[in-house]
Amino acid sequence: MRLAIINGPNLGQIGSREPQWYGTQCFEDFYKQLQENFTEAGISFTYFQSNSEGALIDQIYQLKEDGVEGVVINAGAYTHTSIALRDCIKASELPFVEVHLSNVYAREEFRHKSMLAGVCLGSISGFGLQSYRLAVEALLSHKRRNK
Ligand code: DQA
Repeated sequence: MRLAIINGPNLGQIGSREPQWYGTQCFEDFYKQLQENFTEAGISFTYFQSNSEGALIDQIYQLKEDGVEGVVINAGAYTHTSIALRDCIKASELPFVEVHLSNVYAREEFRHKSMLAGVCLGSISGFGLQSYRLAVEALLSHKRRNK
């Protein structure tokens, strides 16, 4: 099964950016481990990061065309603002899980609102990079239930 991980704006800086919220491990190192952990289960991943809203949208349609079966998305600040991304997630008809490294509900009020949550299977927030692992598990159990 092919799954995708998408990171939005400023998430290329994980590891050095605001470590009190986002930790000190860079995403690429974590991603390598994640791939290894799921190889035996027959899961392969593609990873995409962009700081631009349009590029994220184009990538989602591309993933759909490529036959990817589920997506973990951390849309960064676009989570709270992007109706365009929400419409795209809905239009793609792919199962999405929204993730956040930090617990967005323990932060500023503007981070409490997600434009994307309503078109995703669910959201995972506050577990650092482990949020991504939990999201992959959630996608797999969704797939198993909907076989
Ligand atoms: C974030 C939370 C967002 O509010 C913020 O804009 C980010 C990162 C997180 O992973 O905790 O860029 O999505």
